[in-house]
Amino acid sequence: MGKRMNILFIFLLGAIFSSILADPVKDKQALLDFLEHINHSRSLIWSKETSVCNSWIGVTCNSDHSRVIALRLPGMGLRGPIPANTLSRLSAVQILNLRSNAISGSFPSDFAELKNLTILYLPFNKFSGPLPDFSVWNNLIIVNLSNNGFNGGIPPSVSKLSRLTALDLSNNSLSGDIPDVNIPSLQQLDLANNNLTGIVPKSLERFPSWAFFGNNLSSENAIPPALPGQPPNAQQPKKAKKLSEPALLGIVIGGCVLLFVLVALLMICCHSKRQKEREFPAKYQKKEVSLKKMASENYDKNNRLVFFEGCNLAFDLEDLLRASAEVLGKGTFGVTYKAALEEATTVAVKRLKEVTSTKREFEQQMEVVGRIKHENVSALRAYYYSKDEKLVVHDYYDLGSVSALLHGKRGDGRTPLDWETRLKIAIGAARGIAHIHSQNSGKFVHGNIKASNIFLNSEGYGCVSDIGLAAVMSPMPPPVMRAAGYRAPEVTDTRKATQASDVYSFGVLLLELLTGKSPIHTTGGEEIVHLVRWVHSVVREEWTAEVFDLELLRYPNVEEEMVEMLQIGMNCVVRMPEQRPKMSDLVRTVEEIRRANTGNQPSSETKSETSVSTPIPRGAEIGPSSSVPQ
Ligand SMILES: *[C@@H]1O[C@H](CO)[C@@H](O)[C@H](O)[C@H]1NC(C)=O
Ligand SMILES: *[C@@H]1O[C@H](CO)[C@@H](O)[C@H](O)[C@H]1NC(C)=O
Ligand SMILES: *[C@@H]1O[C@H](CO)[C@@H](O)[C@H](O)[C@H]1NC(C)=O
Ligand SMILES: *[C@@H]1O[C@H](CO)[C@@H](O)[C@H](O)[C@H]1NC(C)=O
Ligand SMILES: *[C@@H]1O[C@H](CO)[C@@H](O)[C@H](O)[C@H]1NC(C)=O
Ligand SMILES: *[C@@H]1O[C@H](CO)[C@@H](O)[C@H](O)[C@H]1NC(C)=O
Repeated sequence: MGKRMNILFIFLLGAIFSSILADPVKDKQALLDFLEHINHSRSLIWSKETSVCNSWIGVTCNSDHSRVIALRLPGMGLRGPIPANTLSRLSAVQILNLRSNAISGSFPSDFAELKNLTILYLPFNKFSGPLPDFSVWNNLIIVNLSNNGFNGGIPPSVSKLSRLTALDLSNNSLSGDIPDVNIPSLQQLDLANNNLTGIVPKSLERFPSWAFFGNNLSSENAIPPALPGQPPNAQQPKKAKKLSEPALLGIVIGGCVLLFVLVALLMICCHSKRQKEREFPAKYQKKEVSLKKMASENYDKNNRLVFFEGCNLAFDLEDLLRASAEVLGKGTFGVTYKAALEEATTVAVKRLKEVTSTKREFEQQMEVVGRIKHENVSALRAYYYSKDEKLVVHDYYDLGSVSALLHGKRGDGRTPLDWETRLKIAIGAARGIAHIHSQNSGKFVHGNIKASNIFLNSEGYGCVSDIGLAAVMSPMPPPVMRAAGYRAPEVTDTRKATQASDVYSFGVLLLELLTGKSPIHTTGGEEIVHLVRWVHSVVREEWTAEVFDLELLRYPNVEEEMVEMLQIGMNCVVRMPEQRPKMSDLVRTVEEIRRANTGNQPSSETKSETSVSTPIPRGAEIGPSSSVPQ
């Protein structure tokens, strides 16, 4: 009996341990075999005893740690050919990055077994021989084999890669004709510095001429391909013709007038440019730096960038630190950068200042946030925690935040944010926040809802970011907190926000969308206006229409909807937290703003076309006669 218990105990213990230290055993062996048979100058700390998924540099596993899905070994001093039957056993691998090594030999034929490969990144090596047959990998998105010694022709099988977005074969010794690669998704192409002949096929004429430089292409393509929109025969040969004297005189006078106009234009241009520079102080101008430069030696290599499940981003900490970073904005919790990574991915990285929670608390909070997957929530991709540096990595949104869309460039040159877009922002944000509130058994709190934390997803709906950070940061000092204007009156410690205070902040966001005014702003003079108080005072005097953003008044038949949103917003910003609506109910009421009014509107009324400010696909727009979108 006792023995039985012991065995059972050992079995249980084993089960517990193997679930904690779950490791893809076969993939681990494949990697060890690879390392054993290739020369490498930088030592890789891959030990049999440690966990592949948690501690091997350059290796990323899937969420249940059953397979290796990414291998990134850039600049590891790998030399010689890739040993056969090693990496090819990583059959689940999606990202293979062996950039900047000295790997030689022909392209490993057994890579054909890596069926799930999406990113093949082998630039700056010494591969030679022919390119592989690409038809075996139909998931490939990025292929970069530049700066090697590949020769022979470009295989026509490239054109089978229907998901390809980037193809870089530059700086090789490829010869022969360029195949007709008609892939609509292809955005980046580089075939420069090879030995290609023939002509540039029609399907590739949309790429800039430098993509083909340094080849022996026939003269037909020697002229750079026509720019889009420019008729192909724009460069008409000039015919020599004798001109009569009056014509000459006309030309001289005309020329003088033209010169005068040009000079005048130039002066106006210069003047307005100087004015622009004055409007945008230096601190708002784009600056490119790398994160590494700013933080020098604060990054501890032993702390790894922690990725979340389903994240196929192809980078490691080194890549992230090396990436050129552009300051996107300075928020309450730190500076956000746009980091352009080499494998054609762009992410938003936030450097958190003053994290007060312990590493464990921080990790726990990030784990909850990382698990949230919703179309109206900006996914947290990865985080990094060391003593001196804390980073969170998010998706990057091209259009910028709702705050930038609403308040940016007021005045000349602004594209107004139309009512449809604002409605979709409100609907999306409501859905996102409601989903966040449903997490952690319905107790999770966002804690920092504001227009600069809301973005537009690919369908043009609001998408909420910066979740749960308030809880791990040092409390904001009262002046900063008050200045934000989104804080519910009962909140005295920003770490202790509640779902009801999130609802208050959401209400302020609705008022901001309606009025086009910041939550705290100044009028012409020095007077500081608190948006909620101001809306209350105006509405009390029954000047309701006066609160709406002037930009919105141009749209016909939306006033009822605006009044409805105003009512919802005001319900959210009531003083007593328990009287505020629940987020789940708000989703319904915000969605009904449109539904309720659809019936009343004559469908023949078309909305103004003067301002489509966001690239929402036509079909996805909420037309006056359509019902609420999905
Ligand atoms: C590693 O390099 C050494 C010296 O350069 C060479 O003798 C050896 O054959 C190489 N091993 C492999 C596996 O390429
Ligand atoms: C390849 O990807 C597909 C779809 O994501 C998945 O179902 C399959 O299991 C993957 N193959 C391997 C070997 O992991
Ligand atoms: C290919 O890789 C090189 C080296 O990392 C990089 O400079 C180049 O931009 C990449 N090409 C594309 C199309 O991304
Ligand atoms: C191609 O090689 C040349 C010379 O070796 C080098 O100057 C150039 O930077 C390379 N091009 C790219 C895109 O890396
Ligand atoms: C290009 O092709 C020509 C003729 O086929 C050959 O003589 C030359 O060596 C090639 N150049 C390179 C860089 O491969
Ligand atoms: C370029 O191609 C033509 C024929 O296609 C060939 O005669 C010529 O030698 C090539 N030039 C170089 C520099 O390879």
